Amino acid sequence: LHAPVIAIDGPTASGKGTVAQQVAQRLGFHYLDSGALYRLLALASLRRQLAVQDVAALTLLARELHIVFRDGYVKLDGVKVSNEIRAEEIGNRASEIALHAPIRLALLARQRALRTLPGLVADGRDMGTVVFPDATLKVFLTASVEARAQRRYKQLIEKGFPASIEILSQDLAKRDARDIQRVSAPLRPAEDAKILDTSNLSVEQVVGKILEWFVALS
Ligand code: C5P
Repeated sequence: LHAPVIAIDGPTASGKGTVAQQVAQRLGFHYLDSGALYRLLALASLRRQLAVQDVAALTLLARELHIVFRDGYVKLDGVKVSNEIRAEEIGNRASEIALHAPIRLALLARQRALRTLPGLVADGRDMGTVVFPDATLKVFLTASVEARAQRRYKQLIEKGFPASIEILSQDLAKRDARDIQRVSAPLRPAEDAKILDTSNLSVEQVVGKILEWFVALS
């Protein structure tokens, strides 16, 4: 029998990461930040000076990438990375790299391997649609561009990155469009996903709602 999975998808800065981590903590489940995988690949490709259009080289890199990746702990080439992959430049590069089906396929097994007992909370864009289509619970988080730009601004400032709300809003809209319009695993709710607008909800309220849904299913 497969370990249970809670799939949490949504656009950039919809609060998925914070919420997913807390849900995982409350249940004692493992946590998969799938965006971090795409960000790691973006960082690695930048270090190796690969072009974002070089799909063949990027696919090879995705297959061979030496990473340690579990429960929020991330190592690239043997060295711990955390804040480095959070820069907007890396997020934007990640979304360009994430367009290509062969690259996504190369990352699929790494993601599914994290599905172990007692269970997994996975956040991203295609957790409910592609990576874990048989997830126990699928949640799709949305929030207005304004609310998301505010959140991302706070996050970046806290991490010591420079940020502007106006530029962030433009970047978010651009990244949303790229993620939604792409052919391979576009950002969209799974048919059986529960949709939750978090614009006016606190993290605790969103976490509470997801736990409530999960308990009702188990
Ligand atoms: O969620 P995060 O902002 O860290 O993701 C960075 C980028 O990686 C996204 O904009 C998206 O293009 C890509 N991504 C993806 N599929 C996922 C997670 C992230 O395509 N499951």
